Amino acid sequence: MSCRTVILISGSGSNLQAFIDHLHPEQTDIVAVISNRADAYGLTRAAQAGIPTEVLDHRSFADRASYDRALAELIDRYQPGWVILAGFMRILTPEFVTHYQGRLLNIHPSLLPRYTGLHTHQRALEAGDSEHGATVHFVTEELDGGPAIMQSHVPVLADDTPDTLAERVRQTEHQLYPLAARLCISGRVALVDGQVQLDGSPIAPSGLRLDQFETDMRGHRND
Ligand code: GAR
Repeated sequence: MSCRTVILISGSGSNLQAFIDHLHPEQTDIVAVISNRADAYGLTRAAQAGIPTEVLDHRSFADRASYDRALAELIDRYQPGWVILAGFMRILTPEFVTHYQGRLLNIHPSLLPRYTGLHTHQRALEAGDSEHGATVHFVTEELDGGPAIMQSHVPVLADDTPDTLAERVRQTEHQLYPLAARLCISGRVALVDGQVQLDGSPIAPSGLRLDQFETDMRGHRND
């Protein structure tokens, strides 16, 4: 049976587009896309794909707690099995996170635990890093601190700017996120006692590697 999934966005929605293009409808049914910003281009992408959209503007709420309560109520109307943050640029309350523990995913544009928060590409350049990337992780109360599921790696080039580096990372996100989400939704990856397991065995704290996993999986199409 197809798993009901709600995707939260705030902006362009290129990761949402990757889900629309790469998730099999028999396995994953995107039942709603919710944005905190009415002008998010991802809403147009969703509408073009025939997915119901909702806008819940945080500026209409007195505080973070009341917004997150209303957001959870809205999400739960769609009865999702999984909630996927795809560029949803809001810090979430512990109550919200606890409510969806183990079935709430995020993507962050850095090799966590390096560079939580904003301006990750600029910070990687300033630090002189030779590689950079993105991380899909379970969401916990700690900002960008939840257990890692999978990472993508890209080289940092001598003439990179924050924008060129961001674009190289973004391209990998579009493979990384649908693959990691498929593993979770199919039940192969799960959060067990705060630890990520693949097929019942714990994985490395930094998560699976996209490039490694793709090689390992060549010939196995049951994910
Ligand atoms: C992505 O690069 C994602 O990693 C980042 O926002 C972008 C959204 O792009 N998320 C965060 O920074 C979360 N801390 P998109 O709207 O085109 O998918």
